Amino acid sequence: MTSGDGKPGIVLVTGGGSGIGLATVERTLADGVHDCAIIDLNPDAAVVDDLIARFGATRVTAITCNVADRDAVTHAVDDVLAARRITGVVNCAGTLLAKPSLELTLADLHRLFDVHVAGSLFVAQAAARSWITAGTPGVIVNVSSVASSFGWPGRLPYPIAKSSVEAMTRTLAVEWARWGIRVNAVAPGSVDSPLMAEGRRPAGVKPLEEVADRHALGRPAASSEIAAAIAFLLSEQSSFMTGAVVPVDGGFTITKDSAKELAQ
Ligand SMILES: NC(=O)c1ccc[n+]([C@@H]2O[C@H](COP(=O)([O-])OP(=O)(O)OC[C@H]3O[C@@H](n4cnc5c(N)ncnc54)[C@H](O)[C@@H]3O)[C@@H](O)[C@H]2O)c1
Repeated sequence: MTSGDGKPGIVLVTGGGSGIGLATVERTLADGVHDCAIIDLNPDAAVVDDLIARFGATRVTAITCNVADRDAVTHAVDDVLAARRITGVVNCAGTLLAKPSLELTLADLHRLFDVHVAGSLFVAQAAARSWITAGTPGVIVNVSSVASSFGWPGRLPYPIAKSSVEAMTRTLAVEWARWGIRVNAVAPGSVDSPLMAEGRRPAGVKPLEEVADRHALGRPAASSEIAAAIAFLLSEQSSFMTGAVVPVDGGFTITKDSAKELAQ
């Protein structure tokens, strides 16, 4: 979609190289309204080539960037803004850590806080500055987790980070509403993404088949099912929603046996 200044609209998707972020990029490109910029630590060339083959080179931009590095985020967003008008932000970049709470260090806490909380804030700030300067509205979707709302033994930095993402969602929604910026979040249950794959998920985190029955629907989500909710929150269909945290969890939060998640 081209704006009055002639610049085509683009959605920034952090963590867009994999899992929920990649599904969000695919969904956004398939919807056809906006182009996408993948902001990721190390976007896989094969993934980017595949997107370009399916949707066209002008619609896909891949930027190598650590979202926890505020200056790097500012530079990355400035590069995008040289040719594009940012229409939305999806903060998907993230990772997981499994460690007994008795052993956690400051570095462990930083590892998750920096990407989930600081990283989401830095990308939101950079986009919001562009919207405020241009006098245009904007929309931000953060990715939380059901882990923000139950005790998840042995994973403490993750629920801390995701609770903070939700607190940030509510505060930014109120603080930036006067500029027409909406800020919402999704809180997925277990999602069948590379983060949870054998050999990728941290030791002690259970495989998806063992946590499937913690969801009322009896299965984990596909990444595309989370992307569908994100697409709704990005769109004008959700024009009266801000500061909301939407569970997209197959009924996970209405089951109450999370202690089983503790590795035996
Ligand atoms: N998979 C699940 O079960 C699940 C459930 C609830 C919430 N989530 C959340 O969804 C989001 C996406 O997770 P996913 O399952 O798609 O994982 P994933 O590992 O498939 O994708 C995460 C992406 O984030 C990128 N990334 C990590 N740190 C980064 C950084 N500092 N800067 C830039 N990019 C960075 C990775 O390179 C990767 O491409 C995360 O925030 C995760 O916490 C996942």
